[in-house]
Amino acid sequence: MKHLLSAGDLTRDQTIALLDLAEDMSDVNDREIKKLPTLRGKTVVNLFFEDSTRTRISFELAAKRLSADVINFAAKGSSVSKGESLKDTAQTLEAMGADAIVLRHSASGSAHRLAHTDWVQSAVINAGDGSHEHPTQALLDAMTIRQGVSKSPRGKDLAGVRVLIVGDISHSRVARSNLLLLKTLGAEVHVCGPATLAPRSLADANQVHFLLDDAIEKVKPNVVMMLRVQQERMTASFFPTEREYSRIWGLNKSRLAKLDQDTLILHPGPMNRGLEIDAASADSKNSMVLDQVRNGVSIRMAVLFTLLSGGAN
Ligand code: CP
Repeated sequence: MKHLLSAGDLTRDQTIALLDLAEDMSDVNDREIKKLPTLRGKTVVNLFFEDSTRTRISFELAAKRLSADVINFAAKGSSVSKGESLKDTAQTLEAMGADAIVLRHSASGSAHRLAHTDWVQSAVINAGDGSHEHPTQALLDAMTIRQGVSKSPRGKDLAGVRVLIVGDISHSRVARSNLLLLKTLGAEVHVCGPATLAPRSLADANQVHFLLDDAIEKVKPNVVMMLRVQQERMTASFFPTEREYSRIWGLNKSRLAKLDQDTLILHPGPMNRGLEIDAASADSKNSMVLDQVRNGVSIRMAVLFTLLSGGAN
């Protein structure tokens, strides 16, 4: 594996190998000295053209825990403001010795473009490209679900696990990558949202729902993944008001009470508390939000190690 661009590029075996390796990495993260020498001498560039808290910091931490050097590039304050292109920026950073480029960009397809032209020779990791994909988010979500269901008789196997993804599906790279990866792992994935934001083309027709109460009743989900309403990507009015959105598609205390007591609540963050999720749900015992963040470091260690050491072919 040279790059990680899409969750759909991963086979089941490659996915399981990455999830198992991430569990080993999480043992390292629990040690007093959280460091391995494995990527000493390698350089990882975080090339971020869009804002990020979780993804950028966890890639930085992951690279440092594997003893790689890290360069953090944020478009704000760089020569991008003088008009420098993605190609020139990436080539400039590679000329300084990058072995891996972790790219977040508002343009869908930007990571593919960087990887599949002769612009750079580095390994390219897609850290979110527009509304298209966010494969490491899907991997950390799968790791979190595996941990959450591992005490049930099914163990770590996600085959047949019912996942309900709720909200702004259309603009969500998290939803797209999760649909691909969870399908590879055999999970039953349903989506729910306003008809304007939950296109039937994304999933099988019987797995698209338009009302959250109905979806909870029909699907009986083991996992509810709430998505952020991405106002910044909306060019039109997709729902009447925030209050209406919250009333019909928001996860709140009364809907939480309708879920099975073991149902896992996921949200990729950042959360719009009071819009797609209320505080009672976000802070409930079912909430895996901080587990997702913690697992993000381990997953990114596994991905960097695999790409830069030539593993999981
Ligand atoms: N989940 C996620 O991608 O969060 P950030 O935008 O903070 O990186």
